[in-house]
Amino acid sequence: MTIFHICTYPEKVLSQPAEPITSIDEDVIKLADHMAETMYNAPGIGLAANQVGVAKRLLVADIAPRGPESELIVLANPEIVAAEGEVIIEEGCLSVPEYQAEVKRHEKITVRGLDLNGEEVEIEAEGLLAVVLQHEIDHLNGILFIDRLSKLKRDLVKRRLRKKKTKEQS
Ligand code: NI
Repeated sequence: MTIFHICTYPEKVLSQPAEPITSIDEDVIKLADHMAETMYNAPGIGLAANQVGVAKRLLVADIAPRGPESELIVLANPEIVAAEGEVIIEEGCLSVPEYQAEVKRHEKITVRGLDLNGEEVEIEAEGLLAVVLQHEIDHLNGILFIDRLSKLKRDLVKRRLRKKKTKEQS
């Protein structure tokens, strides 16, 4: 088992758009594998490659990691091609420790991307899965869920996280 270090705000890789994956090769498959292990271990329900320091457009998600409904989704170069409705759910993020806040997202989305066979796939998601996929695709675009909060809340939590990080490093 390989567990990656998970980057936390304000590490730079989290605020930079990740690069498209040009081919599904062994390295990408291995990366997806280790990302899934890292996500399950954390535990989390979604993880984007730049959260483990790899600036590639790859995500893993499983909204029922411990249940019988457990299903691992791996998507390279995911893109939202349709969206509708509105939902507000409290979100957290492995890269933003010890903080949760309500974020407004689309209720239903259609996401297109590549699976690990290099085949184009389309996923229709709603509810929690739709939220997780939007959250992870945001990561790949260099956006954290706290970037979607009001300026007041965002500044407050960012200041707190920067302070915490400085303390850890000193
Ligand atoms: Ni996250």
